[in-house]
Amino acid sequence: MKHDVLICEVGPRDGLQNAKHLMPTEAKKAWIRALAEAGLQEIEVGSFVPPKLIPAMADTGEIVAFAKTLPGVKVVALAPNLKGFQRALEAGAHKVLFPVSASRQHSESNVRMTPEQMVEEVRKCAQFPHPGVEIQGAVSTAFGCTMQGDVPEDDVVRIATKLAEFCDTVALADTVGYANPAQVKRLFRKVSSKIGAQLERAHFHNTRGLGIANALAAYEEGVRSFDSSMGGLGGCPFAPGASGNVITEDLAFMFESMGVKTGIDLQKLFHARKILAEAIPAEPIYGHIPVAGLPKGFRAAA
Ligand code: COA
Ligand code: ZN
Repeated sequence: MKHDVLICEVGPRDGLQNAKHLMPTEAKKAWIRALAEAGLQEIEVGSFVPPKLIPAMADTGEIVAFAKTLPGVKVVALAPNLKGFQRALEAGAHKVLFPVSASRQHSESNVRMTPEQMVEEVRKCAQFPHPGVEIQGAVSTAFGCTMQGDVPEDDVVRIATKLAEFCDTVALADTVGYANPAQVKRLFRKVSSKIGAQLERAHFHNTRGLGIANALAAYEEGVRSFDSSMGGLGGCPFAPGASGNVITEDLAFMFESMGVKTGIDLQKLFHARKILAEAIPAEPIYGHIPVAGLPKGFRAAA
């Protein structure tokens, strides 16, 4: 199905890495299948990090292989270093995402490298043969950091510009939910003035309730590609105070009700949410539209 905006579901990675409850591999597959059936065309299915560090991601190889059998789905995985990238290539991921934190403290906590060292690690990965595989550099803590506080915009612009030299695309991520819509517009404008359309994606967390407002601000700034997480799961285990992503159900509803096509079938999305809730019943999930229901007379974008 054609779409005006692309929503990438990151729940199986950003969500489950921070969930208190492990989702069994078979349940992950059923959830991802339901997400694909709901029309999600890009799904970040896991990360290739040491299993000891994040046990919930230990089965990512198997999950990537499974997700590749679903028609029309671009299978995305996160890698923090060359070893993770090689594992992602072996598993056959279509796209690999590298988190490069603009905050030095978060970077050292998350990947045990400074931002500069991490940029060089991504460069090494980009130089490693990866025919047909797309790579994206995501500037995390781009709008502030719970450890460092302010993250200078110049640092974000510098890192994004470096990443654009050897990554296909770049994302800006509000890892800890500090961003506001004015800041989102300003920073996306600044970065896109340097790297143009290579600035592809916005990744917002809803920690302070502004996730969807920030997504709209980015949309108004020309962004057409968004990460979000079903049920608002999510958060970085290495960023204190980080909580869930902008909620897929609400984001898809916002766009569809504005007449902006997402390619997502909301009823089928609610079905996928049921599968998620049954798979980890003790995990709190969020969302307005799934609770309130679609407005009477609602029509999806035609
Ligand atoms: N996948 C699997 N194993 C890996 C790995 C990867 N991507 N990277 C390193 N390892 C293994 C090494 O082989 C080594 O194993 P050994 O002890 O059996 O020899 C061990 O892990 C330590 O390797 P090292 O290179 O010293 O890594 P580190 O301990 O300095 O950790 C990272 C660095 C980047 C691997 C780790 O900090 C990390 O995975 N961070 C990402 C965390 C995350 O997922 N955050 C949320 C998403 S942004
Ligand atoms: Zn995130």
